[in-house]
Amino acid sequence: MNLKGLILSGGTGSRLRPITHTSAKQLVPVANKPVLFYGIESLRDAGITDIGIIVGDTAAEIEAAVGDGSRWGVKITYIPQEAPLGLAHAVITAEDYLGDSSFVMYLGDNLLRDGISDLVEKFVKNGPDALILLQEVPNPEAYGVAEVKDGQVVQLVEKPTEPKSNLALVGIYMFTPAIHECTNAIKPSSRGELEITDAIQCLIDRGKRVEPHVVNGWWKDTGKLEDMLEANRLILDALDTDIRGDVEDSEIHGRVVIEDGAKVSGCTIRGPVIIGERTVVHDCYIGPYTSVYSDCEIRNSEIEHSIILEQSQVLDLRGRMEGSLIGKNVRIVRLDQKPKAYRFMVGDNSWIGIV
Ligand code: TTP
Repeated sequence: MNLKGLILSGGTGSRLRPITHTSAKQLVPVANKPVLFYGIESLRDAGITDIGIIVGDTAAEIEAAVGDGSRWGVKITYIPQEAPLGLAHAVITAEDYLGDSSFVMYLGDNLLRDGISDLVEKFVKNGPDALILLQEVPNPEAYGVAEVKDGQVVQLVEKPTEPKSNLALVGIYMFTPAIHECTNAIKPSSRGELEITDAIQCLIDRGKRVEPHVVNGWWKDTGKLEDMLEANRLILDALDTDIRGDVEDSEIHGRVVIEDGAKVSGCTIRGPVIIGERTVVHDCYIGPYTSVYSDCEIRNSEIEHSIILEQSQVLDLRGRMEGSLIGKNVRIVRLDQKPKAYRFMVGDNSWIGIV
């Protein structure tokens, strides 16, 4: 079967502001690799090499990071979406690209530990009109929820007050071209978007076969700070030690990656931790589940369970920093200046916790 991939990397990213004021959330690095790259690799590993990427306002940044896909041995086609009008609208936008192919739709900010190869196999073997991924969650009221009967999905409800099951919709779907008549038939929801859940419900209502696939390994939607940090924790948990940079007078415990050109001196590093290329870390404690990206400088500070993006500095912090996401080119420094006062230059929608 000729299967295409459709990765959704448009959207607003409002829940991850201020990071998304200037950058695409799909490019935030998790364990020092942009989230989007994990999705591309999952598709490639399932044998899908023709991949369309839906892009919005951050198109230029995404194209610069991903390129033509040759790095992964895939062919990438960029598909601009006029505005983030919903997941089903993204499918309509990609209709010409998709043609009469069946396809995997993959939300560009989602991570699935075990990849998608087994479900692509199941989709091809069973031949349903659509196959949706589900995962048991403790709080189904926060998700799109599926009701399953006799091995088929019979109903989908978005954030139900009284969920009929604990099976939440995961951001990865497999469709035959039958989906197009439904994406074109539905109307915008109360939040003004063309919802993919409504399009799938339309398939069910028209007597099409929608099969469920319950995911066992972890799945993460990285659209919010806590989820991004949790995804970082989950990926770092599977890290293998690899020290390529320089390490001097330091104690390294557990699984730690120190990338090329990084310099670590006078530190205690307790893994899992990843330190990016050319980053300098001096006189620090770097604790579990921390990813520091490239070209950063961290000095005389303690950091745990955090993500720091490129070219940022954290200098002489007195308390320990944890549970934090620091954007690009950020400076957190101690000042000797008088009067002794906090001094901030902080963008819109930022969040600062003081002790
Ligand atoms: P969401 O996280 O549901 O939406 P969002 O990116 O607008 O974020 P927020 O709710 O915080 O404002 O989107 C899931 C993925 O799909 C994400 O990678 C963005 C992408 N997307 C599109 O490409 N086009 C769209 O119209 C929408 C709604 C999302």
